[in-house]
Amino acid sequence: MNESIDPNRLPKHIAIIMDGNGRWARSRGLPRIEGHRQGANSVEAALTACGELGIPYLTLYAFSNENWKRPKEELDFLMGLLRTYLANQTERLIKNGVRLQVIGRRDGLSPDVIDAIDQAIEKCKDGAMQTLVLAINYGSRQEIVDAVREIAFDVQQGRINIESIDESTIAKHLYTRDYPDPDLLIRTSGEMRISNFLLWQISYAELLVTSKAWPEFGKEDLYAAVAQYGKRNRRFGGI
Ligand code: IPE
Ligand code: IPE
Ligand code: MG
Repeated sequence: MNESIDPNRLPKHIAIIMDGNGRWARSRGLPRIEGHRQGANSVEAALTACGELGIPYLTLYAFSNENWKRPKEELDFLMGLLRTYLANQTERLIKNGVRLQVIGRRDGLSPDVIDAIDQAIEKCKDGAMQTLVLAINYGSRQEIVDAVREIAFDVQQGRINIESIDESTIAKHLYTRDYPDPDLLIRTSGEMRISNFLLWQISYAELLVTSKAWPEFGKEDLYAAVAQYGKRNRRFGGI
C-alpha cells in the first residue's frame, strides 16, 4: 500500500464526477467521442484501485438527466458505450467480486440500454468485495422529487404520519437507500460545481477537484486522492 495512505483513514464510499472527456479529446485534435472511449479505461482504473485499497463503494456519474441536451450523435455514442461496457465488463466484474448497481430514472433510456443494465445487475448480484454504483440518467433533484412523491403517497395511504417524517425517512426513499453516504467526492477536469449529483448525500463529503481530465485519471490519482482524504479533518459541525 502507498506509504502516504493511512489504512485507518480510508473512505468507505468514493463518488466521482467523471468530467472532461470532450475537452481532453478536443485538445488532442480528436472528436469528443474519443474522450468518452478513453474514459471507459479510467473507470477500470478507479475500480481496481478501490479494490486494492479495500474501499467498498464507488459511485460514478456516467450520464446526467441534463446530458440529454447534447447532440444526437454524441448521445448515441454514449448509450452505445454504456451498453458495450455493461456487456463486455460483466465477466470481469464477477471475477473481481464486484456487485453492480445503477441509480437514475429508467424513463428516457432506450429498451436495449435498460436490458443491458438489468442483465449486468443480475449477473453481478452476488459480488461481495465491492459495490460499483453507476449513475445513469441520474439527477439529484429528480431523485428528490421521486422520493417526495413516494413519501406523499405513503402519507396519503395512511402508512406514515407527517410528524414521523425525519432525515432517515428521506434517505430511505432516495435511490441510494442501500449505500452509505459518500465520504469523498472527486471531480475531474477542474470545474468547481456539483452538476446535480447526490446533493443530499454529499452534505458532509470531503471534496476534491483535480485539473486532470477523466481520460487521464489513473490508479495513482485515486491513490493520491485517498491519501489527501486521510489528511482531512472531518468535524461534522463539531469542534
Ligand atoms: C464527461 O465528460 C462525460 C459525460 C458528461 C457523459 P464531458 O463529455 O462532459 O466532457 P467535457 O466536460 O465537455 O470536456
Ligand atoms: C456532469 O458533467 C455529468 C457527468 C459527469 C455525467 P457535465 O459535463 O454534464 O456537467 P456541466 O454541464 O459541466 O455542469
Ligand atoms: Mg463536462
